[in-house]
Amino acid sequence: MSNLNHERVLDVRHWTEDLFSFKVTRDSAFRFVNGQFTMIGIEVDGRPLMRAYSMASANHEEHLEFFSIKVADGALTSRIRHLSKGDPVLVGRKPTGTLIQDNLLPGTTLYLLSTGTGLAPFMSIVKGPEIYERFEKIVLVHGCRKIFELSYGEKVIANLLKHKLLGDLARGKLVYYPTVTREPFRNRGRITDLIESGKLFDDLNQPPLDIESDRLMLCGSPSMLADLQASLRRSGFLEGNHSASGHYVIEKAFVEK
Ligand code: A2P
Repeated sequence: MSNLNHERVLDVRHWTEDLFSFKVTRDSAFRFVNGQFTMIGIEVDGRPLMRAYSMASANHEEHLEFFSIKVADGALTSRIRHLSKGDPVLVGRKPTGTLIQDNLLPGTTLYLLSTGTGLAPFMSIVKGPEIYERFEKIVLVHGCRKIFELSYGEKVIANLLKHKLLGDLARGKLVYYPTVTREPFRNRGRITDLIESGKLFDDLNQPPLDIESDRLMLCGSPSMLADLQASLRRSGFLEGNHSASGHYVIEKAFVEK
């Protein structure tokens, strides 16, 4: 297990029956770029049981935080949902991932488009000061079925806006747009439909997507990613990666077992 750090749970919060977040200690040598993921797990029968998790904490924070779904029969999530303070957790030493600023071409407005636990890497990104240096406006969209699934994101954003150093930056540049598909809410509908119809841009008083100035990061369910990517491709947007920066980057939410 030489690739793994042995950490301890600091805190666990259950947001809904199916969603929880947890904080763990962080090895001082563990470095990452906001938006990346690593392997997280526990030891089961003497062997590590690991899954990919995006860091939801920013790299300036002392601890690591993760946001997880509970999959009823999932090998790992059915176990880690019962974690409590002090429990041991394994953290992979090699963070990676494509949702990083350097994979994007320069631009003015950054759209962070997520569904479900795909929100996690964007929590890390909006808590890092560097994103506010690079973009004039950051639009964070979080799509969920029900209002209560927004609660983790709402709490993180509320704390960010109150933060003594980052609050001013975020208040000036960050726009948070939660949307719900299966019950009445002030913003309703799938992200794809809100973009297609132009409602997202009308609501935000923003012009429609412009390849010259707008950059996007996408993280969420595979079908949302496939639909959004198809629509971006039709408009000529190119996907960025470590070898060539582009107009958008993409990563599936790690809603695994
Ligand atoms: P919907 O309720 O219309 O399916 P899930 O919990 O299934 O991962 O979905 C999270 C959110 O993502 C829901 O609001 C869901 O809307 C939405 N969603 C699912 N598939 C797509 C898609 N292909 N494009 C856009 N949004 C989607």
